[in-house]
Amino acid sequence: MMRDSSAALLVKGYAWLPDSRRGSADGVVETRLLGRRAYGIGGPSAARFFYDERHVRRTGAVPGSVQATLFGRGAVHTLDSLEHRHRKAMFLTLFTTDRIADLVAETGAAWDTAAPGWVGRPVSLLDAAAAVLADGVARWMGLPPDGDLAGDCVAMVDGFATAGQRHWQARAARRRQEQRLSDVVATLRDGRAGGDTPLEVIARHRADDGHLLTRGTAAVEILNIARPTVAVSWLVAFAAHALHRWPDHRDPLRSGDRAFAEAFAHEVRRFYPFAPFVGGRAAGDVEFAGHAIPTGSLILLDLYGQNHDPALWKDPYRFDPERFLGPDAEAARDPFTLVSQGAGNPAAGHRCPGEPNTVALLSDLAIRVACLDYDVPPQDLDIPLDRVPTRPRDGMIVVPR
Ligand code: HEM
Repeated sequence: MMRDSSAALLVKGYAWLPDSRRGSADGVVETRLLGRRAYGIGGPSAARFFYDERHVRRTGAVPGSVQATLFGRGAVHTLDSLEHRHRKAMFLTLFTTDRIADLVAETGAAWDTAAPGWVGRPVSLLDAAAAVLADGVARWMGLPPDGDLAGDCVAMVDGFATAGQRHWQARAARRRQEQRLSDVVATLRDGRAGGDTPLEVIARHRADDGHLLTRGTAAVEILNIARPTVAVSWLVAFAAHALHRWPDHRDPLRSGDRAFAEAFAHEVRRFYPFAPFVGGRAAGDVEFAGHAIPTGSLILLDLYGQNHDPALWKDPYRFDPERFLGPDAEAARDPFTLVSQGAGNPAAGHRCPGEPNTVALLSDLAIRVACLDYDVPPQDLDIPLDRVPTRPRDGMIVVPR
């Protein structure tokens, strides 16, 4: 009888899967999670295996507690095959280069409006960036203003993987936002057609069977853009953490060097822990690296471990944006190597469609943080690996001058 690792996962957080893989003979972990047979895999060949629908499917893979907090019920994350492809295309049409430039401009304007109010007082960069990103994404999507959006999106991300108060706050935040946004969708559908804001595109999107999404599902997918955009605030806090520890990176960012800023953004995504792994279920009796995996088993792809694997990354625990600029840059950006937001082709599989948005927003906001003149007061800068999602313990507090 295989041991159940649920308790170890809760206790060890990000370290559980990489440690377990290192402790196995061939980097494949065979275990149980919540009583279900589970396999933990990692590395580019594992990513290729995982992102092939003949091997791994998502229907029934996302636990109810994660749907009730992070993704919402009926979300694109939980679909397979044609239904998935069709819904995914809706997201991808919204994330063109021009639209992303508009999003960055909206967010920059929100930063410029907010920043003077930060002077002379301690500000959590995570919370401040969340408010800026919520303002920017709401304007960009065409959502009516709502003072709770930033806090609710942060709560949904912060509470998805834990029991207790954070989890209940996440559920309440999702209920509030889904209710509000399904009313917004209903009002919009009652009005005249026309307009191509992301809100309108989602509200009028027709599924592969020709039907409009239910109001609830439309609200879920609106939140699947707003929430992760606000979550870029975690990466902004990590960017400030990196600039505090390795201040030499400040000058190239201050000079507005866009290529460096993008490399810096990639290294923040690689180096700091955010999504620990992605999971799916075996589509049939499948085999990976000599392991027979019975149909329905849980399969986890180790994102955090792969981003720190010394076989793929020289000196993986060194923060070095040059990895994404020098001669190794192409290999570093390989779609099956850097897996912070999943792997493979976003149109054909579940890889995050918001990666270009994330990189564009983070590059711009990293420059803005580097240009901000601030003191870093004494605080707990530790980033605990047993907390999922983790963050600098005090939220990365700065006192702008
Ligand atoms: C904050 C940085 C972000 C991180 C770390 C992140 C990470 C991820 C990961 C790990 C997945 C799952 C991939 C899989 O299941 O195989 C994912 C999926 C997804 N992400 Fe992101 N993401 C981020 C930002 C964004 C942004 C900015 C957007 C939208 C504007 C977005 C929208 C989505 C959607 C819609 C999916 C589901 C895709 C699917 O199931 O096909 N994400 N993301």
